[in-house]
Order: sequence, then structure tokens, then C-alpha cells
Amino acid sequence: MANDTAVTTSMANLRAHCSQDVSSTRFWRLTSEQRDETFARLREREPVSWQRPVEDAVSPDPDDPGYWAVVRHTDIVTVSRDHRTFVSGHGVQFDLLPTEVLEMSQSFLAMDPPRHDRLRRLVSAAFTPKRISVLDDHVRTAAREVVDGFARETGEIDFVERCAAQLPVRVFADMFGVPYSLRGSVREGAAAIMAWADPESLAGRSPAELQMTGCTTLHGIASELVAWRRKTPTDDLFSGLVHARIDGQQLTDAEIGAFFVLMAVAGTDTTTHTASLTVKALGDAPDQRDWLLTDYDARIHTAVEEFIRFASPVMTFRRTATRETTLGGQTIQPGEKVVMFYSSGNRDTAAFHEPARLDLSRNPNPHVGFGGGGIHYCLGNQLARTTLRELFRQLLTRLPDLSAGEPDLLGTNFMRGVKRLPVTFTPER
Ligand code: HEM
Repeated sequence: MANDTAVTTSMANLRAHCSQDVSSTRFWRLTSEQRDETFARLREREPVSWQRPVEDAVSPDPDDPGYWAVVRHTDIVTVSRDHRTFVSGHGVQFDLLPTEVLEMSQSFLAMDPPRHDRLRRLVSAAFTPKRISVLDDHVRTAAREVVDGFARETGEIDFVERCAAQLPVRVFADMFGVPYSLRGSVREGAAAIMAWADPESLAGRSPAELQMTGCTTLHGIASELVAWRRKTPTDDLFSGLVHARIDGQQLTDAEIGAFFVLMAVAGTDTTTHTASLTVKALGDAPDQRDWLLTDYDARIHTAVEEFIRFASPVMTFRRTATRETTLGGQTIQPGEKVVMFYSSGNRDTAAFHEPARLDLSRNPNPHVGFGGGGIHYCLGNQLARTTLRELFRQLLTRLPDLSAGEPDLLGTNFMRGVKRLPVTFTPER
């Protein structure tokens, strides 16, 4: 095996890097529209291209030969659905992250069967359509209260701070039984983990330091919750985890902590950024907003799919090949890294008519915003849809002239995020 790896590494080192570079920090500081010009060329000419290692990695590896960039919708679906050829257990991040951060944060996202399936099954019960529909009323109330919090004010707020970041944390915290006093810390911890490549968020710290701060904060909260649930079991998700057995053994505190970090990060920032990007997109396409408002209940289902396709907040995820295989005309060797660019798949003209246009009636809409299918398909997809549906019900019906200014974007290669978004509206009476 050591010899195989050496052969693979030297072959990879011999490969010429693609002239369309998607690894530079500069590239990830462009707008998504600017980046898509490069992705469009790649989709057309080199749908699977060999790329140099990502620049300014959090934890650079001098032996890292690079990775395959997969940019077409069809190839993303192929990789996502073949979890035997393309595994997650060697890491799912495009950037190289410190081992401690990976261990503290990724849980079953970065595992393969059978352990992935067992852990995922443990929590799937909380995400069945039936449980989510019970949550509907709860999410609706939470959305109303979040909008109540600013709707009568001066009519000028930072949408991210006052609205988009509030609701997903509240929904997550209620599911996990996180007390009110710790919610701000959940949000800060999750945001720190996601902001590792953003100079402003770093504020002089190294990316690894920032991520560790986030992981430590969230593990601290998880430990408190574990201790409470051991003493006083309830019927919430956290009690289920504390008392569950996998292969006859209880989960360790570290495993529960990693699970909590995964859920906090996967379940909050993603929906927050989708909401902010959608407010901006609807402001730029008032005809679409009017179309939706004309019959909200009948139209919101196709609209939410388009919100997610258009925003594509999770831009990349990685796999590692386990055997020689061919994709997009390229031969991939075992051990080579394969990065899926969901944001590019969601702009592929082979899958979507006029993909650069927001079309809330788009149907079918086979977007890969929640992944391309397969065993790692987003566990929280229904909850995310419900949260967006209820939030936009409040926003569009109560503040119909809500209008967004220019977003201040997060400069990372993983999350398409918004740090600040000024909005104006006529206050409610
Ligand atoms: C708009 C919001 C969201 C987007 C765009 C999104 C996107 C994604 C994507 C692309 C993946 C696939 C990862 C892969 O292929 O390796 C994923 C996985 C996951 N998501 Fe989401 N997500 C969202 C909301 C949520 C929410 C609300 C939760 C939970 C509360 C959640 C929990 C998870 C978990 C646990 C996984 C890992 C699944 C596994 O590995 O089996 N997500 N998500």
C-alpha cells in the first residue's frame, strides 16, 4: 500500500495543473458571478481538471499534489452517489484543516459506512418528515417572533445580524435543548469555524486558532448539555445521543461533542446565508418576488428550491478515490482527492435552462445545493426548507418593500456567505 501511494503521488506530481486556476485566494474573493465565468469555461472544456493545492491552506502540506475539480452537474451526482469509489473518511474539506479541528468538528460527515450509517441513523429519527411537520408550527412561531424583533423599528437594519442569523440558531437550539443563555455562543462558535479564510473574521489570529476557538466553545456547550442529560434524561435529541449505544458502546463525550459541532455548523450558517442571499436576489428580481406573493402557499415550494439553487451556500465538498476510475474523460488514481463544486453544478446549462436567472417557478429543479444525492445528502434538508418557507412568509407579507443594499461577502472557498447586508423597509404599524 505504501508503494501504491508513492506511485500515485509521483504520478500526480507529474500532471500539469489546469490553466483555469480555482485554487487561488484571489479567485475565492471574487463574486460568485465572476467565478462562474471560470467554471463555465471548465464545464465546457475541462469538466474534470487537475488543480494545484489550494492557496493559503489552514494547514499547508508540502507533499499535497493537488486535486481533481469536478464542475459539471452530472459528474457531481456520479461522485456523490458512488460512496465506495469516492469516500469521505479521508476528509471532506477542500482546504486542509488541522487534524484536531477535523476530529472535533466533522463526526459522521467525514465517515464511511458502516459507522457513518449507524451514527446517521441515530439522528435521522429527529429529521423524519413527520417530526419536521410537527416542528412546522414551532418554526412558524419562531420566524414571527424574529421578525417582530425589528419590524416596527426605523426601517433600516443589518439583515444578517437582526434576522438571518437569529432564526436558524433558535430552531437548532430548541431541537437540542440549548438554553437561551448559550445561544449567542453557539452562533459565534459555528461562525468562527466557517470564517477561517476571512481576513476580517481572523482579526490577527491564525485560521487554525480561529477554528479551534469555535470548536472549543461548542465542545464546552456540548459537555454541559451531556452532564445535564445524564442527570436528567428528557426526550430530546441530545438525551437520545447520550444514552444511545453503537456496537454495544455508548458514544464518548468527544464523539457527542463532534456531533454537536457538525450539527451546529451544518444547521445554522447554511440557512443564515441562504436567507441573506435570497433577500438580495429577490430585491434584484422584483417580478419574481411579486409572482411569489401573488399565491405564497401554492408557489413557495418551487420557490424554496430555487432559493437554494441560486444561493448555493455550500460551494464545495471533497472525496478521495479508492480505486482507479474514469470521470469526465480523466483517469483518477486511488488516493487522489476529488472536489465537487456544487455552486458550479447549480449553474450548469446542461441541467438548468438559463441558470443565471432566478426563476421561482423552475420545475423540475434538480439542484445539488444539498449535495448530489447518496448517503451524505443533507440530513437537515427538510428543516432548512421549512425554516426558509416560514421566514419568507413573514418577511414578504409583513415588509413587502424590503429592499437590500450591497452584501459584504465572506471570502472563503467553502461557504458562500454574507457578513452584513443593509436592508431598508417601511416599518410595520
Ligand atoms: C440551506 C441550508 C443547507 C444547505 C445548503 C446544506 C447543504 C449540505 C450539503 C451540500 C451537504 C452534503 C455534504 C457532503 O456531500 O459530504 C450537507 C450535509 C449535511 N447537512 Fe446540510 N445543509 C443545509 C442545512 C442543514 C440543516 C438545517 C442541518 C441540520 C440541522 C443540516 C445538517 C447536515 C448534516 C448532519 C449533514 C451530513 C450528512 C451526512 O454526512 O450523512 N444541514 N448539507
